[in-house]
Amino acid sequence: MKKELGFSITPWKVSGKIDYDKLIKKFGVEKINNELLERIKKHTKELHFMLRRGIFFSHRDMNWLLDEYEKGNKFFLYTGCGPSGPIHLGHLGTWIFTKWLQDKFNVELWFQFTDDEKFLFKKKSYEEIQKWTQENMLDVVALGFDPKKTHFLIDTKHAGLMYPEAIKVAKKITFSTVKAAFGFNDSQNIGEIFYTSMQAVPAFLPSVLKGKKIPCLIPLGIDQDTHFRVSRDVMPKIGHYKPAILHGMFLPPLTGVKGKMSSSESNTAILTTDSPKEVERKVKKHAFSGGKDTIEEHRKKGGNPDVDVSFQYLRMFFEPDDKKLKKIYEDYKSGEMLTSELKEILIKKINDFLKQHQKKRNAAKNKISKFMFKN
Ligand code: TRP
Repeated sequence: MKKELGFSITPWKVSGKIDYDKLIKKFGVEKINNELLERIKKHTKELHFMLRRGIFFSHRDMNWLLDEYEKGNKFFLYTGCGPSGPIHLGHLGTWIFTKWLQDKFNVELWFQFTDDEKFLFKKKSYEEIQKWTQENMLDVVALGFDPKKTHFLIDTKHAGLMYPEAIKVAKKITFSTVKAAFGFNDSQNIGEIFYTSMQAVPAFLPSVLKGKKIPCLIPLGIDQDTHFRVSRDVMPKIGHYKPAILHGMFLPPLTGVKGKMSSSESNTAILTTDSPKEVERKVKKHAFSGGKDTIEEHRKKGGNPDVDVSFQYLRMFFEPDDKKLKKIYEDYKSGEMLTSELKEILIKKINDFLKQHQKKRNAAKNKISKFMFKN
């Protein structure tokens, strides 16, 4: 997936400037059009700004999911977290959107923590991954999901429940399929080859537990789609629905609208545990600016909000008000607003958000057990 596109995407690494229209073709997914947006809005009454602005931009089988919903066949939501390091804003975007879906449709959410995946794919010890699993759960709890309707699955802890289902998936996927889909080679460890079957399980586990087919909707960053491109075809063969999927764009790293924010490069990511000073330092020092070199030139020619990371964070995450966003866009483009002013707006937004988040995160520890699935 690769050079001919000018960017590269796997579930483990994203690089280059992503052309999302090309990606839609390459992955064989459907763009979210106005008709689908209207259809969603019929049920949710309003549209989340991530839908209005095309941050969630493509899908699989959403019309089928809504057909079922309209017939009274409610779906459940499924998403997840790979616990290999600290949580950053890029993770939170998908989860905040997922929470909105949970609230609007009043549905259950299954949330998978793939400690097995991160142990197998990263040069990190089992113990370190366990530590990150605990840490990352705090961030998810802090987002305010309804504990009565939200179930955490930790792959190694819920293995007894998941493994019988995972092997049913694994039996129907060949090594050559996985090799082609993920670009694996013969030096991959054998756990990596099996892993997709674990990520497939929560998409139908609730159906197994309830003994009836329940539709599933998976909001995810589009790099994760490949696991489901491979496993969706298997699901009807083992008696389940294929899940519907909503694909989100990547929040770029501070250094520019290329690739995706990543916690392994913590200087170019905003972490949920960053202090106000740290946020200020990172934004001022690293946030790629669409401004001109001198104030005079900027006033005369204006800036470019489309490549300006601070503006993009406002658009993708921090400024839900379309009118306010438009004003910032125009002021920056005309040169009326300087880069330093734009950065100040962003710094304040991030710090207001993180102050609340950190408060809830600190209080999350004794709530985790309420979310843990018990069977
Ligand atoms: N593999 C994902 C990651 O590394 C975590 C994950 C598990 C996930 N199940 C998912 C993400 C379902 C989206 C949807 O982050």
